[in-house]
Amino acid sequence: MSIKVFIRNDYQELSIKAAEIVEETVSDNPFPVLGLATGKTPTGLYRQLVADYSRGIISFSNVKTVNLDEYAGLSADDTRSFAFFMKKNLFSHIDILPQNTYIPNGAADDLSIECRRYSYILKNLKRDIQLLGIGSNGHIGFNEPGTPFDSTTYVVRLAESTRKDNFGAFGGMENVPEMAITMGISDIMSAKKILLLASGKNKASAVREMLLGKVSEDCPASILQRHPDATVILDRDASRLI
Ligand code: GLP
Repeated sequence: MSIKVFIRNDYQELSIKAAEIVEETVSDNPFPVLGLATGKTPTGLYRQLVADYSRGIISFSNVKTVNLDEYAGLSADDTRSFAFFMKKNLFSHIDILPQNTYIPNGAADDLSIECRRYSYILKNLKRDIQLLGIGSNGHIGFNEPGTPFDSTTYVVRLAESTRKDNFGAFGGMENVPEMAITMGISDIMSAKKILLLASGKNKASAVREMLLGKVSEDCPASILQRHPDATVILDRDASRLI
C-alpha cells in the first residue's frame, strides 16, 4: 500500500485533476456516495464540478454526499457554517437532491446524540470516495494531533492552531467556535478511496509528515499510508519539502 501522489504546477491544475477523479467516481457508480470536505482547498474543485455540470458533462441526480465535519453551535443557515459553505460553493449550483446531502447538525440540542445519528448514517452509506484537505498541523477533518486512529464521529475541542487558521470567516479569534463535530479517523479510513488535496507553502511540512513520516497519531494524516487506495494531489508549493 502506498499513497499515489500527483504534483501539479498550480492550484488550478490541481483542481482540474481532482475534478477528473471525482467525476470518474460519479460515472463509474450507479449510486455514488461522495464524502466531501470544506475549507479553501476544495473550492477550485467544486468550481470545476459546477462548470462541468453546467456544460452537461456530469449529473449529480443519483449522488449522495456526506460531509466530514461541522462547527458546534452553528445552524445550517448560519453563513459561517460548513452546511452553508456547501450550499454556496456546490449544492445550489448542481442537480443534487437536498435530501441526499448529509452534514452533522452543529445546532443539535444534544451533540452526543447527533454524533450517534451521524455514525449510523455513515454505516449505511458506503462512501466510494472521501475528499480531504489537510490542516497545517496534519489534521484531517477536525481530527487533531493525538486523536486515536480508531475514533468514530465525536465532539472535538479544536486546537488553537486550527482556530487561528480558520478565524478569517469569523472576524476574530474570539468568535471562532471552540468545538466541532467531526467524522473520526476510523470513519475516514472506511471510505473505499481517499483523495487528499493540499495547496500552498503552509501545508508543505504537514504534507512531508503525512507522506514520509512514520505513521503516528501525532500526524493524523499519516494514517493514509495504511489506506489501500489513497491519492494525494499537491501543487508545487505544497510539495516543496518532499
Ligand atoms: C478545516 C477543515 C478541514 C480542512 C482544513 C484545511 O480545519 N475541518 O477539513 O482540511 O480546515 O482548510 P483549508 O483548505 O482552508 O486550508
